[in-house]
Amino acid sequence: CGIVGYVGDREAAPILIDGLKRLEYRGYDSAGIAVYNSHSTKVVKSEGKIKVLEDKIGGAYPEGRMGIGHTRWATHGRPSDINAHPHGDCSGDFIVVHNGIIENFQELKEWLESQGHKFQSETDTEVVPHLIEHFYDGDLFRAVRMAVNKLEGSFALGVISRKEPGTLVAARKSSPLIVGLGNGENFVASDIPAILQYTRSVYILEDGEMARITKDSVEITDFEGNPVSKEVFQVKWDAVAAEKGGYPHFMLKEIHEQPKALQDTMTGRLYPDKGEVRLDDIKMTKEGLESLKKVFIVACGTAYHAGVVGKYVIEKLARIPVEVDLASEFRYREPMVGKDTLVIVISQSGETADTLAALRESKKLGARVLAITNVVGSSVSREADDVLYTWAGPEIAVASTKAYSTQLVALNLIALHFAKLLGTISDEEFREIALAMKKLPDQAKAILDAEGEIKKMAERYADREHIFYIGRGLDYAVAMEGALKLKEISYIHAEAYAAGELKHGTLALITEGVPVISLVTQDHLYEKTLSNIIEVKARGAAVIALANEGDEEITKSVDHVIYIPRTHQMLTPVLSVVPLQLFAYYAAVARGCDVDKPRNLAKSVTVE
Ligand code: G6P
Repeated sequence: CGIVGYVGDREAAPILIDGLKRLEYRGYDSAGIAVYNSHSTKVVKSEGKIKVLEDKIGGAYPEGRMGIGHTRWATHGRPSDINAHPHGDCSGDFIVVHNGIIENFQELKEWLESQGHKFQSETDTEVVPHLIEHFYDGDLFRAVRMAVNKLEGSFALGVISRKEPGTLVAARKSSPLIVGLGNGENFVASDIPAILQYTRSVYILEDGEMARITKDSVEITDFEGNPVSKEVFQVKWDAVAAEKGGYPHFMLKEIHEQPKALQDTMTGRLYPDKGEVRLDDIKMTKEGLESLKKVFIVACGTAYHAGVVGKYVIEKLARIPVEVDLASEFRYREPMVGKDTLVIVISQSGETADTLAALRESKKLGARVLAITNVVGSSVSREADDVLYTWAGPEIAVASTKAYSTQLVALNLIALHFAKLLGTISDEEFREIALAMKKLPDQAKAILDAEGEIKKMAERYADREHIFYIGRGLDYAVAMEGALKLKEISYIHAEAYAAGELKHGTLALITEGVPVISLVTQDHLYEKTLSNIIEVKARGAAVIALANEGDEEITKSVDHVIYIPRTHQMLTPVLSVVPLQLFAYYAAVARGCDVDKPRNLAKSVTVE
């Protein structure tokens, strides 16, 4: 989603609309603005692109010199006029735009309703203006502070009130927000492109900071009300770089967004200490699960590779047989699917033609369908019986990165949920896995912080024509995704092989200097994969191992090692894919490829 806000001497509406257009690439299922003018606030919002909003306004911009705007990428509540931001309280006194996810909104909503508050939308956001209304006693900034102290989850907020004309309040926790500094005017925005044409001087708010902004002043405090002094950040990027958050490509930006995306996917869902996983949108019961003979996971491309990991984790934790299939194969195979089958479809876009067809075929045959998707309101999400959203935020680069790693987290959540319902997991094991999952965002960040090493290695091997990836078990599943990343963006021929299969063919292709990326993160398969490494080494391969931190042994047998932080054995794919994404990215850059838009490929394949 995107946020923009303005206070100053100019008309706010055109500035808001212009800012929203510049943020449209971030999410675009609905948009809206609120502009204050002489004791009232006018709100205009609509489902669809900013163009639809503009048409609705029809040139008659609401007048006023203070306002907030929002472009939405739905998380809670499907895209609609009502669910579009801004949202207000009962009296229309307090108007809010929000990015992020309020984890405890259900509790807050119930409590507010018991206090007599009436809600209009299905969004988590709407609790915020009602909370502010509840706390307001003549000081908007204070009321927002009290409200944010009640919120759990992630948020970037922009707030205005007709009770305090000329004051814009902003607050941030785990969702970006900046204050743009003008001359006799100030701005707030979730992203720099929104305000770049008005100012290059900004304060970047940190987590737990909030700002009271007027046309001539900006006051920043923490959530306790203690003043915070900030340095002005001068933006040097041009508009194109700004869209990519300063990264040269969307793909690199999205790779770096993974710590946050992984976090968001778990938000409000996983409680290690309570021994709970809450997947409210999955309505399957214990009896329903017990009646299942089989689970199919059906998807295309990267989502299919996530499915291969899903098979391991669901079978291991929930003890239900799982078959993984490519949607284009499944749909024409007269699949043996019926009432006793659950079909899990995975699709980032929720619009892939083959995946959608597989979903429809499964439903026709009587199966229950659970969808894992990143796009609220997508075809897949509308037609499935149950939906689990990945909440990764829009993915723009054709090569999928954060969608994959969040699909893995979603599959782990499902496996834990099923295992809990079926009683196939002990409390101890649940806790161990859940705690390990909670650490993944920081661990992914640690890998990204050390990307220089991977870049060097990618540049070193970027001139090769063939690169092989080997691994066993979950390592093999990730090897498939690593090879796909490399071929789709660098055009290097890459192949993933189950390490144990090498002898049955691929070994013939291993000659002097051929790079073999070997994944060895699975302890129980370590010795086996090591012997495969020794086999390829004996044929002259250049071996890059991907191993767990602390594995000194491996250095003796390979040319290079990339380490990933130690995690639960079932979760290694979430981490091991990150260096492989970076490897592919830097190899493609070194070869001068068009990373974000590889030749012949499309982000979403809506035709067969
Ligand atoms: C295309 C994209 C891939 C993606 C696949 C499935 O091939 O280039 O990145 O994995 O479609 O897309 P979906 O939206 O269904 O996950």
